[in-house]
Amino acid sequence: MVCPREQQSDTAYGERMKTNTDKVSTIAGKAVDKNTVTIINNRTGESFDFPIMDGTEGPSLFNISTLYAKTGMFTYDPGFTSTGSCQSGITFIDGEKGILLHRGYPIEQLVNSSNYLDVCYLLLHGELPSKKEQLEFDTAITTHTMLHEQLTSFYRGFKRSAHPMAIMVGVVGALSAFYHSDTDIHDPIQRMVAAHRIIAKMPTIGAYAYKYSIGQPFMYPQNSLSYSENLLRMMFAVPTEEYKINAVSARAIDRILILHADHEQNASTSTVRLAGSSGANPFACVASGIASLWGPAHGGANEAVLKMLNEIGDKKQIPKFIARAKDKSDSFRLMGFGHRVYKNFDPRAKVMKDTCHEVLNELGISDPVLPIALELERIALEDEYFIERKLYPNVDFYSGIILRALGFPSPMFTVLFSIARTVGWIAHWKEMFGNEESQRIGRPRQLYVGTKQRNFKQIEQRKQKTPDWLRLWGNRRS
Ligand SMILES: CC(C)(COP(=O)(O)OP(=O)(O)OC[C@H]1O[C@@H](n2cnc3c(N)ncnc32)[C@H](O)[C@@H]1OP(=O)(O)O)[C@@H](O)C(=O)NCCC(=O)NCCS
Repeated sequence: MVCPREQQSDTAYGERMKTNTDKVSTIAGKAVDKNTVTIINNRTGESFDFPIMDGTEGPSLFNISTLYAKTGMFTYDPGFTSTGSCQSGITFIDGEKGILLHRGYPIEQLVNSSNYLDVCYLLLHGELPSKKEQLEFDTAITTHTMLHEQLTSFYRGFKRSAHPMAIMVGVVGALSAFYHSDTDIHDPIQRMVAAHRIIAKMPTIGAYAYKYSIGQPFMYPQNSLSYSENLLRMMFAVPTEEYKINAVSARAIDRILILHADHEQNASTSTVRLAGSSGANPFACVASGIASLWGPAHGGANEAVLKMLNEIGDKKQIPKFIARAKDKSDSFRLMGFGHRVYKNFDPRAKVMKDTCHEVLNELGISDPVLPIALELERIALEDEYFIERKLYPNVDFYSGIILRALGFPSPMFTVLFSIARTVGWIAHWKEMFGNEESQRIGRPRQLYVGTKQRNFKQIEQRKQKTPDWLRLWGNRRS
């Protein structure tokens, strides 16, 4: 965004201030541009104006990109809780109200009236597809579902017991070796082909990771099936038997994919943008997103939720676990609760809860962890600790139960999330190229708190106490 203040000389700025009265406020007897934020350095008394930027929805931001040049200081914001890193038109979240919009459409409407590939189209192109566009897009995706046969040899380099997310990071990273010299990221058409390729291949890569872990042959994709049906078949079919797609399961997978398709500037999407800002290969960027997603504070949470529910094991144990979650000396947290952005119900969690009941009912499954989950949710939502901190169930709280009912082993939960989120990652990566500012290489600053400059010491001069790492290492060995 062009900063109006920077465009003009100070004199021109002063002239504008005199004439344009609705844009001027008077603060402490001084006329100031209303569309700015003034920061005063109380050490020196100097004041600096920064232009306010307004989006179409949500809080305004003030542009501090000239902060260092003007003040000689940086800002400090660990975890980027108050920092906007880009302009984006893909997804909007109002965490206080529990609203999630993709290109303006509420997530509930998309889940109930659309399908995953239409949502992919919407995220990538900004509009829902017409009939013709839908056909062309679906065809473009299905023609890319197969993997280069050579890529399958990468799986054999992993232990059979490897976590499938480790395999995903490796195999998706390896895709960059197959599509590097013919992927010119400065060509919009090639960026689009890269987007189609990765969206199409992710279910195949994910399903192969599972098949490899259980020693079954890889099932090739079948392009007559829908995206979700194909995923189910590649996961659960075997070459020796006919595989019947269960419509309820396919619809549930499609819903889960839609609910995880994008979530604006979260850890993994920001990782993809940051990796992409250096001009890296898009498949390598997606691999970096997968690595970031894997952690239990992000995409690994649904696996962690199920582990926690199993560990609780009985409704009677819930108060003990709630007490542990509240105890600051215990690192245990209630998995599937809380969110950096939502300070209200995660709108995706509501849909997920309904889908969970629907799937269990229709498949006739009674999972002993469901009553524990429902009771845990009830107790936590009435507990002062969770109320005060606005900790509500998030999207991961019920998704694990659904996936288990559909036959997915828990290490595959995050894989499914990564398949769904690939469109979000690649849509943001693609969007970056449309905006010059966003294309600047990402380079956060730091507050250096280490040793000041000093002169090199020869080894004979170094008299140091046992460093921490050696002490810890010694304890571990003894
Ligand atoms: C998602 C998450 C990382 C967001 O973290 P955040 O925005 O940085 O929030 P904070 O860690 O600052 O938490 C704010 C407060 O709530 C507490 N809190 C947050 N989530 C909690 C949880 N799941 N269980 C218990 N306490 C929790 C924190 O201890 C902190 O308490 P304090 O103010 O007394 O120190 C966090 O809520 C979490 O770890 N949740 C569990 C993992 C999960 O489900 N992740 C999936 C997200 S979709």
